Amino acid sequence: PASVDAKFKKHGKYFGVATDIKLLKEEKNAAIIAAAFGAVTPENSMKWDSLEPKINAFQWAWPDYLVQWAGNHSQIVRGHTFVWHSQLPDWVKNIKDKAELTTVMKRHINTAMGRYKGKIYAWDVVNEMFKDGNGELRDSVWSKTYGDGFVKIAFETARAADSKAKLYINDFNLDQLNNAKTQKMISKVKEWRAAGIPIDGIGSQAHLKPGQAAGFGAALKGLCAVVPECAITELDIEGAKAEEYATVAKACLDIKNCVGITVWGLRDPDSWRKEKTPLLFGADYKAKPAWNALLNAVQ
Ligand code: G3I
Repeated sequence: PASVDAKFKKHGKYFGVATDIKLLKEEKNAAIIAAAFGAVTPENSMKWDSLEPKINAFQWAWPDYLVQWAGNHSQIVRGHTFVWHSQLPDWVKNIKDKAELTTVMKRHINTAMGRYKGKIYAWDVVNEMFKDGNGELRDSVWSKTYGDGFVKIAFETARAADSKAKLYINDFNLDQLNNAKTQKMISKVKEWRAAGIPIDGIGSQAHLKPGQAAGFGAALKGLCAVVPECAITELDIEGAKAEEYATVAKACLDIKNCVGITVWGLRDPDSWRKEKTPLLFGADYKAKPAWNALLNAVQ
């Protein structure tokens, strides 16, 4: 397929995809990613339960493979993700002592960022900390222990570990501007940055349902306005309507500091919600109509 990334590059942006070692070792799959994308995010292999399943015993083989693959193919990497309530091992969830949890969080961030220093463009330092609906803090060992105080510790630790990596707060359901969660993200990030917390970017995951692409641009604009940069980090759209993909791509292209788009997987059968056929490639490795719509949407 023609490269959507090449077209994004003309605008100083990237077009990436989530993948992992198993898929990168499938030749046809890897060939498409090499030819048509410019960035990769590990879909699972840098999550806490995969990276540090037991205390201070890190599993590097899978993320190493992805980082090296990206380097070999001149692609950038988005690191995903540190402080998250999900895919978090029980040994972390069960920590009751604040000082111990802080030691564990700092070691995890320092170890991973240290190993890949200079090789990761951006890290999702905090993921999905707000509840849907009212935008309040999501229940987790993090919020239970610190309220929202973990944000400061996590971002300051990350900045010190790799001063060049862009540090992101990432979330889903930020797709409409007048929704409590979007508003909460905007106001809290503003407040945290004003207090000196080193947040460089907001990631809008963009797991969209049909119809949501319409208001997406306005929401993204609101988010991007309070940070140096922003990105669409996990795009997939139920049904993969061509016009909706084009609308979302244009939303990023229209915003100067939107640095790029990552789609959450290559082929439908490998999607986390495969029954919704939300991705750009089918089981036959052929590009779906939305791919051409993207090529046409980017001048
Ligand atoms: O590794 C085990 C394997 O050993 C076991 O045999 C297999 C059996 O089901 O499960 C494997 O783990 C699965 C893992 O993906 C790796 O394939 C988990 O069950 C499964 O729950 C996990 O799903 C991932 C999900 O995050 C977990 O929360 C999806 O692949 C991944 O696409 C999805 O990605 C998230 C983002 O990180 C954050 N935003 C939302 C997005 C979609 O849920």
